[in-house]
Amino acid sequence: MSADQQAREKSMKHDAAILLALAALPCLAAAAESARPWLDKSLDPDRRAALVLKEMTQKEKLNWVSSHFGADHGGNKTKKVPEALPFSAGYVPPLPRLGLPALFLTDAGIGVATQNTTTPRERTALPSGIATAATWNRKLAYEGGRMIGFEARASGFNVMLAGGMNLMREPRNGRNFEYGGEDPLLAGVMVAEQVRGIESNHVIATIKHYALNAQETGRFELDARIDPAALRMSDLFAFQVALEMTDAGSFMCAYNRLNGPYGCEHPWLLNTVLKGDWGFKGFVMSDWGATHSTVEAANAGLDQQSGFEFDRSRYFGGALEEAVESNFVPQKRLDDMALRILRTMFAKGVVDHPVKEGGAIDYDAHGRISQADAEEGIVLLKNAGKLLPLSTSAKKIVVIGGHADKGVLAGGGSSLVYPRGGNAVPGLLPATWPGPIMYYPSSPLKAIQARVPGAQVAFDDGTDPARAARLAAGADVVLVFATQWVGEALDATSLALPDNQDALIAAVAAANPKTAVVLENSGPVMMPWVDRVAGVVEAWYPGTNGGEAIARVLFGEVNPSGRLPATFPAAESQLPRPKLDGDPAKPEERFTVDYHEGAAVGYKWFDLKGYKPLFPFGHGLSYTQFGYSDLKAQLVDGKVQVRFTVTNTGGVAGKDVPQVYVSPLSAKWESPKRLAGWDKVDLAPGASTSVTLSIDPRLFGMVRGSASTWHVAGGRYQVKLARHAQDDAARTVTIQLPAQVLDAAGHPLKTKTKG
Ligand code: BGC
Repeated sequence: MSADQQAREKSMKHDAAILLALAALPCLAAAAESARPWLDKSLDPDRRAALVLKEMTQKEKLNWVSSHFGADHGGNKTKKVPEALPFSAGYVPPLPRLGLPALFLTDAGIGVATQNTTTPRERTALPSGIATAATWNRKLAYEGGRMIGFEARASGFNVMLAGGMNLMREPRNGRNFEYGGEDPLLAGVMVAEQVRGIESNHVIATIKHYALNAQETGRFELDARIDPAALRMSDLFAFQVALEMTDAGSFMCAYNRLNGPYGCEHPWLLNTVLKGDWGFKGFVMSDWGATHSTVEAANAGLDQQSGFEFDRSRYFGGALEEAVESNFVPQKRLDDMALRILRTMFAKGVVDHPVKEGGAIDYDAHGRISQADAEEGIVLLKNAGKLLPLSTSAKKIVVIGGHADKGVLAGGGSSLVYPRGGNAVPGLLPATWPGPIMYYPSSPLKAIQARVPGAQVAFDDGTDPARAARLAAGADVVLVFATQWVGEALDATSLALPDNQDALIAAVAAANPKTAVVLENSGPVMMPWVDRVAGVVEAWYPGTNGGEAIARVLFGEVNPSGRLPATFPAAESQLPRPKLDGDPAKPEERFTVDYHEGAAVGYKWFDLKGYKPLFPFGHGLSYTQFGYSDLKAQLVDGKVQVRFTVTNTGGVAGKDVPQVYVSPLSAKWESPKRLAGWDKVDLAPGASTSVTLSIDPRLFGMVRGSASTWHVAGGRYQVKLARHAQDDAARTVTIQLPAQVLDAAGHPLKTKTKG
């Protein structure tokens, strides 16, 4: 530290002592406040951050740019700092002299997680992120976010590492359950709503993992290769949509490399795209263990080294101080790093609304919010012969497998929320991280029994297919609960259901065709038995009230309205990478994953190749039917506006998700069509409603090279109103669009006269 800085620091300490003394006298407290003008709530966050930054010593600036892990770190044998909340993800100390609070960080997307099993905090868990995406209901995503953000605040946290956004390029990815599926618009919007909900509690949310962290195998070293234009039209578009909708406080850069550099020292990703093209004003934090350097990372745009105990060194501690002193990192970069964090703390209300541990939580009310999300996220995939809804006059129901007598499954890893009441099925392996395998104590069997008190409801654990089949024979209906547990750091080795469950289902269906399979899983699985069962219900990981939600859908108390946010392939050979790249046994090995499908992710790839999936993106059945009419598309203020009418033509009330896809008739895109909009409508039998959607103009454009602009080719485009991505009966209209160049945010730069 220079003599100048030392003198400054000394004088600051002196000032601080005076201010503290002043603050101790109530009559002079106001005077103390006026000496700290950044605490004036009427000023805008940029100004407040600039004011306080001016008062900071170098050490105080450095305070903000790295966080501690909030639990003991076994690998590096470091102990948690005492001030961090127990078993939490992170902690940044406060600066009381300046009236700035500490940052208390918690995972993640389904609720307040615990990083260790010793004494977990027990909180409400939402269904998995993909289940929330499957609701296609923005309001539910917002409400879920609001609820978990509330619990975060009541638990003493002001940063929530929630906002998982990675597109499903790899159905075997062990973290698909944390994300929003395969489509950038759907994932972007649904995750954004959750982020908005969280941040409504004055809690900073974190959109992650930026970018292309599409598989867990080899995640620390793999080099994800992709054409930059394709990336902008797919994964980056999801992040961009979410940022535009939320002004999110922070972004978390990912472990993996992208076209060479690591995500957390990637000037193009961080400086050029995120902070430049998109104008991000928040801060970039690294994933835990994803910082690899001081100078490269800081200059590339990383603002905060997270959980530095995970890294080889505290790169953003003394090393950064030295790097700034010797000007390898400009002083103005360090100022910008601190400024971004401070600005976010002011903008999101973290300074004005200090958190306190121990707030009251209404668990019953929160359970209902989680349940509503689960109920709308459940997707009825198949329902032959109207097996469902179940009749309450059934005499014999047989329930098999999936620990359905005890509870419902959750995904593993840092996002795991421990439920009130503890693990319903303790002792399953792996017991340690990313385990334990957790079942929330909400038993589907008990919820089913409660609805048919007069019936015989028998349970078999499913470990012996022949025994289960014997029990199933002759029942009015058989429900097989099938599970697939995956977790962070652990991809599924294949899309087959594990533990002989395919054989179990086949045996049971052979004994009784009135069989429905209820899946509790992360994402797509193979269903070799699909033609032999009457029903398939996709329940995902359904959260703390999952058993009740499943029963309500099975009995028709809730009419299913979930739609798949991801394509379920018919075979792994249909995937862009039929085999998962990398070797789980060699996590340190560097290898490349070639994302040659570019922006043609999920259904776009299936369209391009002409493949027929097992179940298409957007698919989901209802206990009623919906009719579509009056489809029209027109240009209104330069945007395509689509209008149509939806009618409930069946006999019961229900919700529908009409989906609008757009296709070029002459221009060439990465794939034949893109999802451009949807709505979720709730209709009584016979009722109709008119829907109007305004389409983001970028969805008609293509990005070229590594530029941020979108080029819309002049010509005709087809607008399709469909039930899912492979709906042959979809209605279509065409619309003529002028050639246009749009800036990164989708605003026209100029209109060409010729296409
Ligand atoms: C995960 C992040 C998580 C962080 C903190 C990492 O292992 O990839 O998603 O937020 O840990 O727990």
